[in-house]
Amino acid sequence: MSMHKLVLVASMACCSTTAMGDDGPRLGRSIDDATVAAIDFVVLPNGEGLPAGSGDSVQGEKIYVKECVSCHGASGQGGIGDALVGGQGTLASDSPVRTVGSYWPYATTLFDYIRRAMPYSKPGSLTDSDVYALTAYILFLNGIVAEKDVMMADTLAKVHMPNQDNFVWAYRPK
Ligand code: HEC
Repeated sequence: MSMHKLVLVASMACCSTTAMGDDGPRLGRSIDDATVAAIDFVVLPNGEGLPAGSGDSVQGEKIYVKECVSCHGASGQGGIGDALVGGQGTLASDSPVRTVGSYWPYATTLFDYIRRAMPYSKPGSLTDSDVYALTAYILFLNGIVAEKDVMMADTLAKVHMPNQDNFVWAYRPK
């Protein structure tokens, strides 16, 4: 038997007895239904999946000042985190500024993103109404909704983003 074959046989013997038992590689740990349910949510561009709850920009500003301003700056102007406001009309220029307001095609994605990922250091800590209020605030700062407009499943799905028509669908939601 060549040395190459010997090494291969030896390594197979090693792995079948130690790292992999009869019932698999034993990577990770099992997950229960409640844990899956807490992270198994998605909001589609057309608003499908938006939960109950509501909020406006006045409420959103208060939460923003506590939870977001340290990274995204006063009024969403940016800091160590992205600017969330401004840049409208710059996308076709030599210095495009891509923000939620100038670039993102769907307001519903803003809800999904904040709920899923923000605040950066403790995602999942906000209520759905907090997230609606923050969404309303960021849309208000971008001049897309009015200060008192209440964002909830129905109203958020109807918000038309300034750059929406510059995106083309590779597939269409139902
Ligand atoms: C500790 C810093 C920090 C805090 C606090 C924070 N963010 Fe962020 N945020 C970030 C970073 C970093 C990114 C970029 C993440 C990436 O690209 O993966 C980001 C990205 C975002 C984006 C996407 C911007 C884009 O154009 O891609 C949004 C929207 C956002 N944050 C909203 C919020 C809101 C709302 C809060 C408060 C509830 C918040 N963030 C709190 C650091 C932070």
